[in-house]
Amino acid sequence: MQHGSDIRIRPGAMSDIDALIALERNVFAANCMSRKSLRRFLSVPTATVLIAEHGKMVAGCAVLLMHASTPAMARLYSIAVAPANEGHGIGPMLLHSCEEAARQHGRAQIRLEVHEQNQRAIGLYRKEGYAEFGRHVGYYKDLGDALRFRKELAA
Ligand SMILES: CC(C)(COP(=O)(O)OP(=O)(O)OC[C@H]1O[C@@H](n2cnc3c(N)ncnc32)[C@H](O)[C@@H]1OP(=O)(O)O)[C@@H](O)C(=O)NCCC(=O)NCCS
Repeated sequence: MQHGSDIRIRPGAMSDIDALIALERNVFAANCMSRKSLRRFLSVPTATVLIAEHGKMVAGCAVLLMHASTPAMARLYSIAVAPANEGHGIGPMLLHSCEEAARQHGRAQIRLEVHEQNQRAIGLYRKEGYAEFGRHVGYYKDLGDALRFRKELAA
């Protein structure tokens, strides 16, 4: 696969659920999202699920949450690229589409959490202009800390 070639970003639909579960298991093993969570994200207006498609294959996915209680903010809940498709710019494409979706919903900022040892994801966020602003101690199952990142979105 060439860098970013033949990749299409589109909204997720309930018919994607099996492919999304397979992607989650492939990427996150034991810590993947449940079918129930995915179903909810695909059906509620406060979540936007974006899919990166390579041909008919789901190559990546992102979940962006936009709650009424925090009207200026969107939270990147999850981003994942299938291991076979990593390193081709799909992560950045998904991130850009999330930023566009957040802007369209009038959100001025995106926030996210990332495991302190996830250097690859941290590298991607820094490169895309996300700034570290805090830490949740012992946030993950392995008791690792979460680094908190945010980006202000241009109007
Ligand atoms: C983090 C993630 C979304 C990045 O997506 P991606 O499509 O691979 O992003 P990119 O193509 O920009 O590659 C990221 C960087 O890793 C580098 N890279 C490529 N292949 C690599 C490999 N096999 N091992 C390590 N780094 C590699 C790329 O060169 C790029 O660095 P650069 O921007 O300096 O060139 C993806 O790796 C992923 O899904 N990881 C597992 C899930 C995860 O950790 N999600 C985030 C949780 S907060």
